[in-house]
Amino acid sequence: MTFLEQIGPLKEAAIAELRAAADLAGLEQVRVNHFGSNGKLTALMKQLGALPKEEKPAAGKAVNALKNEFEAALTERRAELELTASLPKEPADFTAPGRRRLVGKLHPLTQVTEEIVRSFRKIGFVVADGPEVEDEYHCFDALNTPADHPARDTHDTFYLAGTGDVGGAKVPSLLLRTHTSSVQIRVMEKQSPPIRILVPGRVYRRDNADATHNPTFHQVEGLYVDRNVTVGDLKGTVEFVFKELMGPETRIRFRPHYFSYTEPSFEIDFSSPLTRKMGKEWLEIAGCGMVHPQVLENVGHDPEVWSGWAFGFGIERIAMIRYGINDIRLFYENDLRFLRQF
Ligand code: DAH
Repeated sequence: MTFLEQIGPLKEAAIAELRAAADLAGLEQVRVNHFGSNGKLTALMKQLGALPKEEKPAAGKAVNALKNEFEAALTERRAELELTASLPKEPADFTAPGRRRLVGKLHPLTQVTEEIVRSFRKIGFVVADGPEVEDEYHCFDALNTPADHPARDTHDTFYLAGTGDVGGAKVPSLLLRTHTSSVQIRVMEKQSPPIRILVPGRVYRRDNADATHNPTFHQVEGLYVDRNVTVGDLKGTVEFVFKELMGPETRIRFRPHYFSYTEPSFEIDFSSPLTRKMGKEWLEIAGCGMVHPQVLENVGHDPEVWSGWAFGFGIERIAMIRYGINDIRLFYENDLRFLRQF
């Protein structure tokens, strides 16, 4: 058989095999069988060089035509197979129920925080903010908390490395704020009374996590400074807000306590159907008091002219009591089965 005579049957066989390939892998196999380094057509092309000179032009032309036809058939079959591969494997069931698009919701702690903020806005409070990475001055000193107070112990507070006494120069020690009370100082440094602020925010303490503790949690701080502010104002405000949050049957009581930044200081207990459900008449819920004159002096406001009150409480605790949640860690696990309930 002459060279030219071989081409026709080989070409037809190759193209028939391409058309018959059942999938993309099979198609590639056909290509290799014919044009791979050991392919049948590759072998034929190798004979080209050995042909007599006068046969070469016609043979070369025929080989080129074969190659072009093979390429065209390959491309065509590849497109067909790719289309088949991308089609659904099973027929569509148009009677199947539609897919629901999940609508997100606010985290329960965010919901409670927003509700607290809403109640305070009704009586003229605005939201203020401060840094979570604080210095000792704003977290403790300016709040009249002495250097030997246990809260300043490294067992209770997360201190950041690389600060403190650097080369004899005093650099403020940085820490993660242990309470939102530091924002009282930040705001009063910049703003003159009257001041009515509410500060929701994240705080950090070196507690081991258990059902009622977590190293990060959230607080709300309130501060009111004006002329002639009294404990009566404090009590009236707290009563109004807790009735809004915990229901109209809520009662509150103040117990004497100690905080370095307030004098006198109180702990606030409340009583409601919610506390009775937990088997208790009174539950401790917040700390508060009249802003200590030293704190006002520390931020440059005359305590003879200005007086005020402050309070602080934990947001998780409020949410746990309201919703009957018995483990604080549930708030941070992002388990949708828990979160979907709120
Ligand atoms: N900072 C206190 C705490 O973390 C809460 C608190 C108590 C805030 C009394 C106040 C206050 O503003 O007057 O436990």
